[in-house]
Amino acid sequence: MQTTSIHGMWSSRLAFILAATGSAVGLGNIWRFPYVTSDNGGGAFVLIYLGCILLVGLPIMWTEIVIGRRGRMSPINSLRELSDDAGASRKWMGIGFLGVIAGFLILSFYSVVAGWTLHYGFLYLKDLFGGATITDPDATFGSLLAQPGELAFWHGLFMVMTVSVVAFGVEKGLERAVSILMPLLFVLLLVLLGYGMNTGYFLEAAGFLFKPDWSQVSGAMIVTAMGQAFFTLSLGMCAIMTYGAYLPSGVNIPRVGVTVAATDTVVALVAGLAIFPIVISFGLDPAGGGPGLIFTSLPLAFAEMPFGILYGFLFFTLLSVAAWTSGISLMEPATAYIVEATNLSRKAAAICVAAVAWMMGLASVFSFNVWSEVRIGGLEVMDAIVYVANDVMLPVGGLLTAVFGGWVLSSRITHEELDKKMPDWAYNAWLWVTRIVTPALILVVLAGLFGII
Ligand code: PHE
Repeated sequence: MQTTSIHGMWSSRLAFILAATGSAVGLGNIWRFPYVTSDNGGGAFVLIYLGCILLVGLPIMWTEIVIGRRGRMSPINSLRELSDDAGASRKWMGIGFLGVIAGFLILSFYSVVAGWTLHYGFLYLKDLFGGATITDPDATFGSLLAQPGELAFWHGLFMVMTVSVVAFGVEKGLERAVSILMPLLFVLLLVLLGYGMNTGYFLEAAGFLFKPDWSQVSGAMIVTAMGQAFFTLSLGMCAIMTYGAYLPSGVNIPRVGVTVAATDTVVALVAGLAIFPIVISFGLDPAGGGPGLIFTSLPLAFAEMPFGILYGFLFFTLLSVAAWTSGISLMEPATAYIVEATNLSRKAAAICVAAVAWMMGLASVFSFNVWSEVRIGGLEVMDAIVYVANDVMLPVGGLLTAVFGGWVLSSRITHEELDKKMPDWAYNAWLWVTRIVTPALILVVLAGLFGII
């Protein structure tokens, strides 16, 4: 059994928590959660999403960390090692390959949206020195989307920022970045909460978020809720598994897993409680906001409030930071695998991953302009990529991960990794949830997705 990874190790339990929380908290919480909640009618969606976090997300988070720490390598090779040990087929490595492909797809659009936030941060920075660029938020957002060159530039900048961390490795790159960036992120939370509470529409927003209207529930909505649960916790594509490979032995996995999942969930709910009061206070309809929601509604508030430009600058800068720490974790699994499988250096491997992901991202860039008429299965290009990656590939990856952890790995190994001192009843609860409950729930949702039920 390996006690360290060739890629490096987190220096402490806290370093892992910062890195994994940095991976989980990102655009998924602050950009995507509010708008998918809006598009799906509020309360009922949020409650189903929370159910998915608890019954599907958390068990898979534990399982991914267990597999990563036991294997100590990139997901593909960890899975090979562990299946060999268990006498199982090497086909299980497929989870790792699937994860790497999903990682590329997600990084490709993620970086484009992160580019929007960088661009907005820059607009507010300019305004700090005089001027008011965003007077008509719809027009500003529309004109950004209409310019492929501009989008590709900011998308490229985000990719460069990300690769420049990943290239330096676990300790000097990832850990150092998250220990500076994560405290900044908590400032963002306070900023958000502060003005959400100041609008006077806090209660209406809370009602929209938490009062379920069960008539809104549909198969498609449940698929979206589960996809969002996977996406926001960075699960189903081996990102958390990769971070688990660098986790020192002896750190209690159930406890760090709960910390990461709970923090991520709180950030999403706080983002909702900050953004919907603003949407409502400007007389916008909280339902049906679409991907532009935060880019078109928040600037309205920033334009009216005292120190609004400063707030706007802080908000979009910190959101870029949140996206950055997630982008790093999207790049790490493929980079680690290339380092193991070829004789490329980490720097070269990371640059290859970034270059491929940047090129793939051009599809999302064009989906707003040159390809705006193109539809794939009725969806715009970027929406189609998001749908395939988040709503299909992540749940499939998660399902296979749960089956591998629950049925293929021996219970001696999983018990030992989770927590040797864990009482049998608690271990058995994890085991049977991971073996039966989680896979069954994912299967039901996927069956609905493919129209089988
Ligand atoms: N969890 C990240 C977010 O919410 C996105 C992400 C998904 C990161 C998958 C890594 C892996 O923004």
